[in-house]
Amino acid sequence: MNEAIREILLTEEEIKNKVRELSNQIIKDFPDGDVILIGILKGSVIFVADLMRSMNINVTMDFMAVSSYGMSSNTSGIVRILKDLDFDIEDKDVVIVEDIIDTGTTLKYLYEYLKARNPRNLKICCLLDKADRRKADIKADYIGFSIPDEFVVGYGLDYAEKFRNLPYIGILKEEVYKKD
Ligand code: PRP
Ligand code: MN
Ligand code: MG
Repeated sequence: MNEAIREILLTEEEIKNKVRELSNQIIKDFPDGDVILIGILKGSVIFVADLMRSMNINVTMDFMAVSSYGMSSNTSGIVRILKDLDFDIEDKDVVIVEDIIDTGTTLKYLYEYLKARNPRNLKICCLLDKADRRKADIKADYIGFSIPDEFVVGYGLDYAEKFRNLPYIGILKEEVYKKD
């Protein structure tokens, strides 16, 4: 185990099984295929890659990059688009794929933003849900795991851009983020 990790919250095996479950749920809702998965850079990259590989329907991918800012105590809900979609989503079946919903600021904004382009369906698939931290009123349609309010990294999630490559999701030791 990586020395910065206090405890493994979700093992590689648990994640793998959950990804299969989630992809089955999506396929059930869109049996005819032609689903567009939209990964939100960078945290969702590992998840979206695994999710798409376990979907045996026609599926395409696109990416958005955003940065959110605002005072911590007063979420303005302002999210800046750094990279927009390459393709038009009007009348398409679209699933936004995220690694985690924390305050919900990112997904709330993205959902409204993409909804305005009139997709046929717009769903949210999120691997981790940290419900205790929610500020924005937003819910995912497909949720992997509800997790406690701990600093988690791995499987795409970072601390200062590190640990995205861990194959599991672990809780970061406090001393790692307190000392910075
Ligand atoms: C993280 C995470 C989600 C978002 C969730 O992304 O990947 O996208 O924060 O937080 P929220 O619900 O409070 O909006 P981050 O901004 O760290 O960028 P990254 O994906 O590149 O790590
Ligand atoms: Mn992110
Ligand atoms: Mg991050």
